[in-house]
Amino acid sequence: MTHEVLGIDVGGSSVKAALVDVDGGQLVGELISATTPQPATPDGLMPVIAGLVARLPQAAARVGVAFPTVVKRGRVHTAANIDPSWIGTDGAALIERTLGRPVEFLNDADAAGVAEVRWGAGRGQLGTVVMLTFGTGIGTALFTEGRLFPNTELGHMEIRGMDSEKWASAQVKAAQNLDWSAWIERVNVYLERLYAMLWPDVFILGGAISQRFTDFAPLLRSAAKIRPAQFAGQAGVIGAALAAAERPPAIRAAR
Ligand code: BGC
Repeated sequence: MTHEVLGIDVGGSSVKAALVDVDGGQLVGELISATTPQPATPDGLMPVIAGLVARLPQAAARVGVAFPTVVKRGRVHTAANIDPSWIGTDGAALIERTLGRPVEFLNDADAAGVAEVRWGAGRGQLGTVVMLTFGTGIGTALFTEGRLFPNTELGHMEIRGMDSEKWASAQVKAAQNLDWSAWIERVNVYLERLYAMLWPDVFILGGAISQRFTDFAPLLRSAAKIRPAQFAGQAGVIGAALAAAERPPAIRAAR
């Protein structure tokens, strides 16, 4: 029997959910989504999450939730692209109460990286891998020999006196109407700065933009290898489910 876990990915513009086969690293059925409510407060988001889960088959006992903030032991510590009222809340406990099931709660880029390193573009890769998600913000996940160093938040590294995600995210590309070459010039500067700090072997470029990889790949420059994410917009959902499947219950209980 396949081992199925519910994966949810809360983003700045949409909340996605699907049932995931965590043994095979793929969705079971379709990915469903809803618009992120504005403001994206805990009270605004809980009915949206509950509504999505109600539309999916109810068999999965466990739930993984990818969230666009620093998350430590289930608690939210930052709020760059979500309502600030989340800061200090126990997000895992809140969603557990809403859904009535154990919840694993982690940073969205970390979740996407877990999916890619386990089954996607980083599979079997030794050394250091940096997963980047370009969306509303820039999410980062750092892996060495397949192990995650969580909450790196390098999308907020300062570049030219600016928060780098306010300069090089996919949202900035759209808002400032940058063509591929203007945007990739910024991405290349960003990759260079990351390379100088971390010396990764591979960068994995994720977020919805990775589906257009062939359009901009020839413009990318880095001393590290650059690969497109394999799961694109599904990586957060798949990785959240995998994290929920793998976290031992004893550690979850000690939170
Ligand atoms: C947040 C990160 C998140 C990233 C992508 C950033 O603004 O600080 O926690 O991973 O956006 O959603």
